[in-house]
Amino acid sequence: MSEDYAARSDAPARRDRTGQAEAFDAIGASYDVAFPHKDGQLAAGRRLAGELPPGSRVLDVGCGTGLPTARQLTEAGHTVLGVDLSAGMLDLARVNVPSPAAEFRRLDLADLRVSGEGPGAVGQFDAIACFFALLMLPREEIPSALRLLRSLLRPGGLLALSMVEADLDDAAIPFLGHVIRVSGYLRDELRQVVRDAGFDIAHEESYAYAPASTYVPPEHQLFLHCRRG
Ligand SMILES: C[S@@+](CC[C@H](N)C(=O)[O-])C[C@H]1O[C@@H](n2cnc3c(N)ncnc32)[C@H](O)[C@@H]1O
Repeated sequence: MSEDYAARSDAPARRDRTGQAEAFDAIGASYDVAFPHKDGQLAAGRRLAGELPPGSRVLDVGCGTGLPTARQLTEAGHTVLGVDLSAGMLDLARVNVPSPAAEFRRLDLADLRVSGEGPGAVGQFDAIACFFALLMLPREEIPSALRLLRSLLRPGGLLALSMVEADLDDAAIPFLGHVIRVSGYLRDELRQVVRDAGFDIAHEESYAYAPASTYVPPEHQLFLHCRRG
């Protein structure tokens, strides 16, 4: 598989993102109020942090408010680059994770690449955390996004991925007073998509999650711990 995935021409055309970042800009801090007890994400972050040698470089894709993951990883002694489409979420992340070991950049995850010109050139990482971010893409883009993330990992690098289990493709759903478009898979299909992108799945957990807000339905969250194959 090409290491310079971003330069390849077979990635699907990017769908219109209008409304996705704007919704999260407006949601802001109420995101963490609606999703307070992130047991699964905390456990996944702990597992990832513990598997890495001290001082590892970690990419947090769709980092949101920086809580809990970017903070957790910096507190464990790693350096973190958090990227997100929403300027509002990034403002919160910079306040929530003021550590010099954390940097936050406004980027579409599809613009990430190892090298080249511009802010999307981010180098390679020992690990990637990607919690509930790929679900913001249409299904058509998810396999190529995973291959892109793979290309950003050093050989043997780790990916901690979470998704909500749902058979959806770019479906408009009400979310905390806004409308966002989300995609998902049932777990067998998710495993296949992840393996097809060049990852080995080392560990998996699922959690039933009831958000604090009644504006978001209960969900099943899937956490996959993967290694670049
Ligand atoms: C459901 S939130 C998850 C936030 C955080 N990872 C967490 O688990 O708490 C999804 C995040 O992905 C961001 N996002 C959506 N589409 C994105 C894209 N194409 N590139 C980068 N970030 C994106 C949103 O702005 C939002 O902050």
